[in-house]
Amino acid sequence: MEVAYTIEELRQARRRICVAFAPEDERHPRVGFVPTMGNLHEGHMCLVKRMTDECEVSVVSIFVNPTQFAPGEDFDEYPRTPDADLMQCEDAGVDLVFFPEEDQLYLEDHSTEIVVHRLTERYCGAARPGHFAGVALVVAKLLNIVQPDIAYFGQKDYQQFRVIERMVRDLDFPVALSMCATVRESDGLAMSSRNAYLKGDDRKAAATIYQGLQVLAEAFAAGERDSAALKEAARAELAEPVRLEYLEIADAWSLEPKQSAARGDVVLVAAHVGETRLIDNIVLAAGEENAN
Ligand code: PAF
Repeated sequence: MEVAYTIEELRQARRRICVAFAPEDERHPRVGFVPTMGNLHEGHMCLVKRMTDECEVSVVSIFVNPTQFAPGEDFDEYPRTPDADLMQCEDAGVDLVFFPEEDQLYLEDHSTEIVVHRLTERYCGAARPGHFAGVALVVAKLLNIVQPDIAYFGQKDYQQFRVIERMVRDLDFPVALSMCATVRESDGLAMSSRNAYLKGDDRKAAATIYQGLQVLAEAFAAGERDSAALKEAARAELAEPVRLEYLEIADAWSLEPKQSAARGDVVLVAAHVGETRLIDNIVLAAGEENAN
């Protein structure tokens, strides 16, 4: 496995690895890419597994992106575990890790923004002003640097996926996007680096977020379609000290809220447990197991 710390090193290593894969002919190996902020857990490694299964060349980036954190958010506290991350990538058969410092990606006078309108106006976009502009900017830069054929993202960040998808479509990035199912702890809590902030009773209470989503999915499968009633069923499951930030049933593509729920709609939730902000979602499927 190679580790590149600069954009130039990344580009040279990518070229070298691709040529080594197909030295003779014009055949272009499929390059996969998993962008991360490090502190890799099973959720990330599931994306990596899908990438290494589907692509001949696999690239992971590790970069805690400052532009997607608002002042006062947890940028400084965000867990950083570089050695363990590199070891996991190596064990998983990743070919190349991009591990830039902040000044590699952001020049002092960087002056360009990417704003994806509409999809970012609600939910996490409303709660974290500027967050999706920061995500769009760094993902656009990483896609330009790595030039993957397929980029992999987790369903846990559902709104983020739709925002990136729209940016990629609107700006004609030559990349396919793949959304991988949320990986969960045994009690259903969606895996996240921020789960490390949860201790004792807060950790136990956090699992009721997914329990609420499941109860909502069961009510939907049993025939309930009224969004207000469905959301009430989920809300009733939440244990103290879970404090709901938003809970909405939305169209899976436009993310517009729905009064009446339908199969394929997404249920988006964000909640605070103490100081920790958690997000989760499921896609509604009538009469079957709900999708994550
Ligand atoms: O989902 C994340 O970990 C981040 O938002 C991403 C896509 C790596 C951009 O910093």
